Amino acid sequence: MKIEPKVIVHGGAWDIPAALHQEHREGIKQALEHAQSALKSSDDPLFAVLEAIKFMESFPVFDAGRGSFLNARGEVEMDAGLMVGKDLSVGAVAAIRNVAHPIEVADLVRTKTQHAFLVGEGATEFARERGIPLVATEDLLVGRERELYLRLKKQGKVRIKSFFEKKRQRDTVGAVAINSKGEIAAGTSTGGTPYKMPGRVGDSPVPGAGFYADDRFGGASSTGWGEGILRVMLARTVIESLKQGQSAQQAAESAVGELRLRVQGDGGVIVIDRNGNMGFAYNTPHMAVGAASGEEILFIQI
Ligand code: GLY
Repeated sequence: MKIEPKVIVHGGAWDIPAALHQEHREGIKQALEHAQSALKSSDDPLFAVLEAIKFMESFPVFDAGRGSFLNARGEVEMDAGLMVGKDLSVGAVAAIRNVAHPIEVADLVRTKTQHAFLVGEGATEFARERGIPLVATEDLLVGRERELYLRLKKQGKVRIKSFFEKKRQRDTVGAVAINSKGEIAAGTSTGGTPYKMPGRVGDSPVPGAGFYADDRFGGASSTGWGEGILRVMLARTVIESLKQGQSAQQAAESAVGELRLRVQGDGGVIVIDRNGNMGFAYNTPHMAVGAASGEEILFIQI
Protein backbone atom coordinates (compact mmCIF):
# COMPACT_ATOMS: atom_id res chain seq x y z
CA MET A 1 0.00 0.00 0.00
CA LYS A 2 1.39 3.42 -0.93
CA ILE A 3 1.30 5.84 1.99
CA GLU A 4 1.22 9.61 1.79
CA PRO A 5 4.43 10.85 3.49
CA LYS A 6 3.66 12.83 6.64
CA VAL A 7 5.33 14.45 9.61
CA ILE A 8 4.01 15.55 13.00
CA VAL A 9 6.09 17.74 15.34
CA HIS A 10 5.72 19.10 18.86
CA GLY A 11 7.34 22.01 20.63
CA GLY A 12 6.33 21.06 24.15
CA ALA A 13 3.26 20.72 26.34
CA TRP A 14 2.81 23.32 29.10
CA ASP A 15 0.85 26.39 30.04
CA ILE A 16 2.03 28.41 27.02
CA PRO A 17 1.01 32.04 27.61
CA ALA A 18 -0.88 33.83 24.85
CA ALA A 19 2.04 36.20 24.32
CA LEU A 20 4.18 33.26 23.17
CA HIS A 21 1.62 31.57 20.90
CA GLN A 22 2.68 33.33 17.72
CA GLU A 23 6.35 32.50 18.26
CA HIS A 24 5.48 28.84 18.90
CA ARG A 25 3.24 28.76 15.84
CA GLU A 26 6.06 30.17 13.72
CA GLY A 27 8.58 27.66 15.12
CA ILE A 28 6.24 24.74 14.42
CA LYS A 29 5.49 26.01 10.90
CA GLN A 30 9.14 26.36 9.97
CA ALA A 31 9.99 22.96 11.49
CA LEU A 32 7.24 21.40 9.34
CA GLU A 33 8.56 23.14 6.24
CA HIS A 34 12.06 21.78 6.90
CA ALA A 35 10.63 18.27 7.33
CA GLN A 36 8.46 18.61 4.23
CA SER A 37 11.36 19.54 1.99
CA ALA A 38 13.39 16.63 3.46
CA LEU A 39 10.54 14.21 2.73
CA LYS A 40 10.14 15.57 -0.79
CA SER A 41 13.83 15.39 -1.66
CA SER A 42 14.60 12.03 -0.02
CA ASP A 43 11.43 10.20 1.07
CA ASP A 44 13.53 9.44 4.17
CA PRO A 45 11.56 9.73 7.44
CA LEU A 46 14.72 9.97 9.55
CA PHE A 47 16.00 12.88 7.47
CA ALA A 48 12.65 14.62 7.98
CA VAL A 49 12.81 14.07 11.75
CA LEU A 50 16.40 15.33 11.86
CA GLU A 51 15.62 18.42 9.80
CA ALA A 52 12.58 19.32 11.92
CA ILE A 53 14.39 18.83 15.23
CA LYS A 54 17.58 20.56 14.13
CA PHE A 55 15.51 23.57 13.17
CA MET A 56 13.71 23.57 16.53
CA GLU A 57 17.05 23.24 18.34
CA SER A 58 18.09 26.49 16.69
CA PHE A 59 14.78 28.30 17.33
CA PRO A 60 15.10 29.85 20.79
CA VAL A 61 11.47 29.70 21.91
CA PHE A 62 11.90 25.97 22.60
CA ASP A 63 13.84 24.21 25.38
CA ALA A 64 16.29 22.39 23.10
CA GLY A 65 19.68 23.33 21.71
CA ARG A 66 19.77 27.13 21.78
CA GLY A 67 17.24 28.18 24.43
CA SER A 68 17.94 25.25 26.80
CA PHE A 69 17.57 25.71 30.54
CA LEU A 70 20.63 26.01 32.79
CA ASN A 71 21.27 23.35 35.41
CA ALA A 72 22.04 24.05 39.07
CA ARG A 73 25.70 24.62 38.21
CA GLY A 74 24.85 27.20 35.55
CA GLU A 75 25.67 24.84 32.68
CA VAL A 76 23.63 23.66 29.69
CA GLU A 77 23.33 19.87 29.53
CA MET A 78 21.12 18.50 26.74
CA ASP A 79 19.49 15.16 25.93
CA ALA A 80 18.36 13.81 22.54
CA GLY A 81 17.51 10.52 20.90
CA LEU A 82 16.05 9.05 17.75
CA MET A 83 14.93 5.72 16.36
CA VAL A 84 14.45 4.13 12.95
CA GLY A 85 11.38 1.91 12.81
CA LYS A 86 12.67 -0.30 9.99
CA ASP A 87 15.53 -1.89 11.97
CA LEU A 88 14.87 -0.50 15.48
CA SER A 89 18.26 1.23 15.42
CA VAL A 90 18.66 3.88 18.09
CA GLY A 91 21.06 6.76 18.74
CA ALA A 92 21.01 8.86 21.89
CA VAL A 93 23.06 11.34 23.89
CA ALA A 94 22.46 12.64 27.39
CA ALA A 95 23.96 15.46 29.46
CA ILE A 96 25.90 16.52 26.36
CA ARG A 97 27.39 20.02 26.44
CA ASN A 98 28.58 22.62 23.96
CA VAL A 99 26.92 21.37 20.79
CA ALA A 100 24.27 23.23 18.81
CA HIS A 101 22.45 20.09 17.63
CA PRO A 102 22.35 17.19 20.11
CA ILE A 103 20.02 15.28 17.75
CA GLU A 104 22.72 15.28 15.08
CA VAL A 105 25.19 13.76 17.55
CA ALA A 106 22.56 11.17 18.56
CA ASP A 107 22.34 10.07 14.93
CA LEU A 108 26.14 9.85 14.69
CA VAL A 109 26.10 7.56 17.74
CA ARG A 110 23.61 5.39 15.84
CA THR A 111 25.56 5.28 12.60
CA LYS A 112 29.23 5.66 13.57
CA THR A 113 29.63 3.72 16.81
CA GLN A 114 28.89 0.22 18.03
CA HIS A 115 26.77 1.78 20.77
CA ALA A 116 23.32 3.25 21.11
CA PHE A 117 23.75 5.78 23.91
CA LEU A 118 26.59 8.10 24.99
CA VAL A 119 26.47 10.43 27.99
CA GLY A 120 28.28 13.40 29.51
CA GLU A 121 31.90 14.11 28.60
CA GLY A 122 32.07 10.98 26.44
CA ALA A 123 29.22 12.29 24.29
CA THR A 124 30.73 15.76 23.93
CA GLU A 125 34.16 14.30 23.14
CA PHE A 126 32.64 11.99 20.52
CA ALA A 127 30.92 14.97 18.86
CA ARG A 128 34.25 16.83 18.73
CA GLU A 129 36.02 13.78 17.26
CA ARG A 130 33.36 13.52 14.55
CA GLY A 131 34.03 17.12 13.53
CA ILE A 132 30.95 18.69 15.11
CA PRO A 133 31.94 22.28 15.96
CA LEU A 134 31.80 22.90 19.71
CA VAL A 135 29.99 26.06 20.81
CA ALA A 136 30.38 28.08 24.01
CA THR A 137 27.63 27.73 26.63
CA GLU A 138 26.95 31.44 26.07
CA ASP A 139 26.01 30.67 22.46
CA LEU A 140 23.27 28.31 23.63
CA LEU A 141 21.75 30.91 25.93
CA VAL A 142 19.10 33.45 25.26
CA GLY A 143 19.10 36.05 28.05
CA ARG A 144 15.99 34.75 29.81
CA GLU A 145 17.64 31.44 30.84
CA ARG A 146 20.43 33.19 32.72
CA GLU A 147 17.85 35.42 34.44
CA LEU A 148 15.76 32.40 35.45
CA TYR A 149 18.87 30.60 36.71
CA LEU A 150 19.89 33.55 38.88
CA ARG A 151 16.35 33.84 40.25
CA LEU A 152 16.19 30.13 41.11
CA LYS A 153 19.65 30.23 42.67
CA LYS A 154 18.55 33.08 44.92
CA GLN A 155 15.38 31.19 45.80
CA GLY A 156 17.50 28.17 46.80
CA LYS A 157 14.89 25.42 47.02
CA VAL A 158 13.43 24.45 43.65
CA ARG A 159 10.61 21.93 43.11
CA ILE A 160 11.32 20.60 39.62
CA LYS A 161 7.89 19.01 39.07
CA SER A 162 6.23 22.42 39.47
CA PHE A 163 7.78 23.51 36.17
CA PHE A 164 5.62 20.94 34.40
CA GLU A 165 2.47 22.00 36.21
CA LYS A 166 2.03 25.77 36.12
CA LYS A 167 5.36 27.54 35.92
CA ARG A 168 6.97 25.77 32.97
CA GLN A 169 8.87 28.27 30.84
CA ARG A 170 9.18 26.27 27.62
CA ASP A 171 9.60 22.67 26.60
CA THR A 172 11.11 19.80 24.69
CA VAL A 173 10.78 19.29 20.92
CA GLY A 174 10.10 16.15 18.90
CA ALA A 175 9.04 14.76 15.54
CA VAL A 176 7.66 11.59 13.97
CA ALA A 177 7.61 10.99 10.20
CA ILE A 178 6.43 8.31 7.78
CA ASN A 179 7.47 7.92 4.13
CA SER A 180 5.68 6.54 1.08
CA LYS A 181 6.79 2.98 1.95
CA GLY A 182 5.38 3.18 5.47
CA GLU A 183 8.83 3.53 7.06
CA ILE A 184 8.75 5.50 10.30
CA ALA A 185 11.27 7.46 12.38
CA ALA A 186 10.88 9.34 15.66
CA GLY A 187 13.09 11.64 17.71
CA THR A 188 13.12 14.02 20.66
CA SER A 189 15.50 16.73 21.95
CA THR A 190 15.55 18.78 25.14
CA GLY A 191 17.51 21.03 27.45
CA GLY A 192 15.78 19.27 30.35
CA THR A 193 14.44 21.11 33.35
CA PRO A 194 15.49 24.41 34.91
CA TYR A 195 17.98 24.10 37.78
CA LYS A 196 18.22 20.31 37.39
CA MET A 197 21.04 18.48 39.14
CA PRO A 198 24.16 18.20 36.99
CA GLY A 199 23.98 14.79 35.33
CA ARG A 200 20.18 14.60 35.51
CA VAL A 201 18.70 12.79 32.51
CA GLY A 202 14.99 12.91 31.73
CA ASP A 203 12.84 10.84 29.41
CA SER A 204 13.75 12.49 26.10
CA PRO A 205 16.85 10.46 25.12
CA VAL A 206 15.52 7.17 26.49
CA PRO A 207 14.00 4.84 23.88
CA GLY A 208 10.51 3.84 24.93
CA ALA A 209 10.13 6.88 27.18
CA GLY A 210 10.96 9.94 25.03
CA PHE A 211 10.47 8.31 21.63
CA TYR A 212 9.91 4.99 19.90
CA ALA A 213 9.43 3.76 16.32
CA ASP A 214 8.61 0.34 14.94
CA ASP A 215 7.39 0.15 11.33
CA ARG A 216 5.07 -2.72 12.25
CA PHE A 217 2.99 -0.42 14.50
CA GLY A 218 3.98 3.28 14.46
CA GLY A 219 6.11 5.96 16.07
CA ALA A 220 5.78 8.38 18.99
CA SER A 221 7.58 11.31 20.63
CA SER A 222 6.89 12.53 24.18
CA THR A 223 7.11 15.81 26.08
CA GLY A 224 6.51 16.79 29.69
CA TRP A 225 7.65 15.77 33.16
CA GLY A 226 10.58 13.45 32.43
CA GLU A 227 10.68 11.66 35.76
CA GLY A 228 7.05 10.61 35.28
CA ILE A 229 7.33 9.80 31.57
CA LEU A 230 10.25 7.50 32.34
CA ARG A 231 8.14 5.58 34.83
CA VAL A 232 5.25 4.92 32.44
CA MET A 233 7.47 4.55 29.34
CA LEU A 234 5.12 6.90 27.54
CA ALA A 235 6.24 6.37 23.92
CA ARG A 236 6.35 2.58 24.25
CA THR A 237 2.93 2.62 25.92
CA VAL A 238 1.60 4.28 22.76
CA ILE A 239 3.16 1.58 20.59
CA GLU A 240 1.69 -1.19 22.76
CA SER A 241 -1.77 0.35 22.31
CA LEU A 242 -1.30 0.53 18.52
CA LYS A 243 -0.25 -3.12 18.62
CA GLN A 244 -3.51 -3.94 20.37
CA GLY A 245 -5.49 -2.26 17.61
CA GLN A 246 -6.17 1.21 19.04
CA SER A 247 -6.20 4.14 16.61
CA ALA A 248 -3.35 6.67 16.71
CA GLN A 249 -5.59 9.14 18.55
CA GLN A 250 -6.84 6.55 21.06
CA ALA A 251 -3.27 5.38 21.70
CA ALA A 252 -2.10 8.95 22.38
CA GLU A 253 -5.03 9.63 24.72
CA SER A 254 -4.71 6.39 26.67
CA ALA A 255 -0.95 6.86 27.16
CA VAL A 256 -1.38 10.41 28.49
CA GLY A 257 -4.23 9.09 30.67
CA GLU A 258 -1.80 6.52 32.09
CA LEU A 259 0.76 9.28 32.78
CA ARG A 260 -1.79 11.17 34.87
CA LEU A 261 -3.38 8.13 36.53
CA ARG A 262 -0.24 6.27 37.56
CA VAL A 263 2.29 9.01 38.38
CA GLN A 264 0.23 12.24 38.40
CA GLY A 265 2.35 13.42 35.49
CA ASP A 266 1.82 16.27 33.03
CA GLY A 267 2.84 16.07 29.40
CA GLY A 268 1.88 15.07 25.90
CA VAL A 269 2.68 12.76 23.02
CA ILE A 270 2.49 12.76 19.20
CA VAL A 271 1.89 9.60 17.16
CA ILE A 272 1.86 8.29 13.59
CA ASP A 273 0.61 4.75 13.02
CA ARG A 274 1.82 2.37 10.31
CA ASN A 275 -0.89 3.53 7.90
CA GLY A 276 0.01 7.19 8.30
CA ASN A 277 -2.84 8.12 10.66
CA MET A 278 -1.82 10.73 13.19
CA GLY A 279 -2.83 11.48 16.77
CA PHE A 280 -1.73 13.63 19.68
CA ALA A 281 -2.82 14.17 23.28
CA TYR A 282 -1.75 16.28 26.26
CA ASN A 283 -3.03 17.06 29.74
CA THR A 284 -1.45 20.51 30.04
CA PRO A 285 -3.31 23.69 29.07
CA HIS A 286 -1.49 23.79 25.73
CA MET A 287 0.79 21.80 23.48
CA ALA A 288 2.57 23.27 20.47
CA VAL A 289 1.89 20.73 17.74
CA GLY A 290 1.59 20.66 13.96
CA ALA A 291 1.53 18.24 11.07
CA ALA A 292 2.17 18.25 7.33
CA SER A 293 2.00 15.96 4.35
CA GLY A 294 4.66 16.24 1.67
CA GLU A 295 2.48 18.85 -0.04
CA GLU A 296 0.69 20.91 2.62
CA ILE A 297 0.61 21.97 6.24
CA LEU A 298 -2.31 20.00 7.69
CA PHE A 299 -2.65 21.85 11.00
CA ILE A 300 -0.82 23.88 13.62
CA GLN A 301 -2.26 24.12 17.10
CA ILE A 302 -1.00 25.79 20.25
N1 GLY B 1 10.70 15.91 29.04
C1 GLY B 1 11.88 16.64 29.22
C2 GLY B 1 12.58 16.37 30.47
O1 GLY B 1 11.96 16.08 31.48
O2 GLY B 1 13.79 16.47 30.49
